[in-house]
Amino acid sequence: MLSNSSPSLIHFLLVVVGTAFLIYPATATDHIVGANKGWNPGINYTDWANNQTFYVGDYISFRYKKFEYNVFEVNKTGYDNCTIEGAAGNWSNGKDFVHLNKTGRYYFICGTGGCTSGMKVSIVVHSIPPPPSASIAATKHSSESTKHASAASEMASGRLLLVVLRTLLVGLVSSILTR
Ligand SMILES: *[C@@H]1O[C@H](CO)[C@@H](O)[C@H](O)[C@H]1NC(C)=O
Ligand SMILES: *[C@@H]1O[C@H](CO)[C@@H](O)[C@H](O)[C@H]1NC(C)=O
Ligand SMILES: *[C@@H]1O[C@H](CO)[C@@H](O)[C@H](O)[C@H]1NC(C)=O
Ligand SMILES: *[C@@H]1O[C@H](CO)[C@@H](O)[C@H](O)[C@H]1NC(C)=O
Ligand SMILES: *[C@@H]1O[C@H](CO)[C@@H](O)[C@H](O)[C@H]1NC(C)=O
Ligand SMILES: *[C@@H]1O[C@H](CO)[C@@H](O)[C@H](O)[C@H]1NC(C)=O
Repeated sequence: MLSNSSPSLIHFLLVVVGTAFLIYPATATDHIVGANKGWNPGINYTDWANNQTFYVGDYISFRYKKFEYNVFEVNKTGYDNCTIEGAAGNWSNGKDFVHLNKTGRYYFICGTGGCTSGMKVSIVVHSIPPPPSASIAATKHSSESTKHASAASEMASGRLLLVVLRTLLVGLVSSILTR
């Protein structure tokens, strides 16, 4: 079936898509608060947060015993004083995913009393860094790749590039299969 297609084109696309997969995670990262310890008292979530890099589009998720604990998004005052007045949001399903859709600092606390036992976490969400312009051009297919690399560096988001490349690949594969 592949004989009707241009092998070099397929090779080129596979290299580019493969490179894109290596550089950019295919999906937004889900940062599970406390990792396998979850959202519970007696854990230093500052240590946990210091070990993570949050980007716009990522998720922060809280895993805990439903009804016992919950999650409030508060401001610095709420975080410092363990108060939920004027909270920007709250979640209580026991497995809560919060979409980090803007840059900046976020504060989350438990609203059932756990905050004073350490159930508070503050994170900083960064904008997605521009794609490293040299990396795609570093593949052997210089002329075509350079064109793609410069287009890529103009894109605000590397993830957008990935979506485009995936669409190209899916289109290519389905056009081969439906021949
Ligand atoms: C948590 O760890 C951070 C950094 O290691 C430290 O500054 C902070 O005092 C700790 N918090 C508590 C409540 O122990
Ligand atoms: C930070 O991440 C490293 C590597 O994933 C891990 O080994 C370490 O336990 C983490 N530390 C904390 C405090 O989560
Ligand atoms: C927060 O707590 C501190 C010290 O406990 C207190 O001085 C301050 O007034 C409190 N702020 C608010 C807004 O309640
Ligand atoms: C946090 O929100 C409370 C309640 O809306 C408000 O009184 C307080 O001034 C806010 N603190 C900050 C630092 O924005
Ligand atoms: C929790 O959020 C809901 C909306 O999702 C709101 O109606 C409710 O007042 C909030 N609860 C508190 C205690 O802020
Ligand atoms: C960002 O997320 C919040 C809460 O999840 C939501 O209320 C808000 O509409 C979102 N904003 C955008 C621009 O998607």
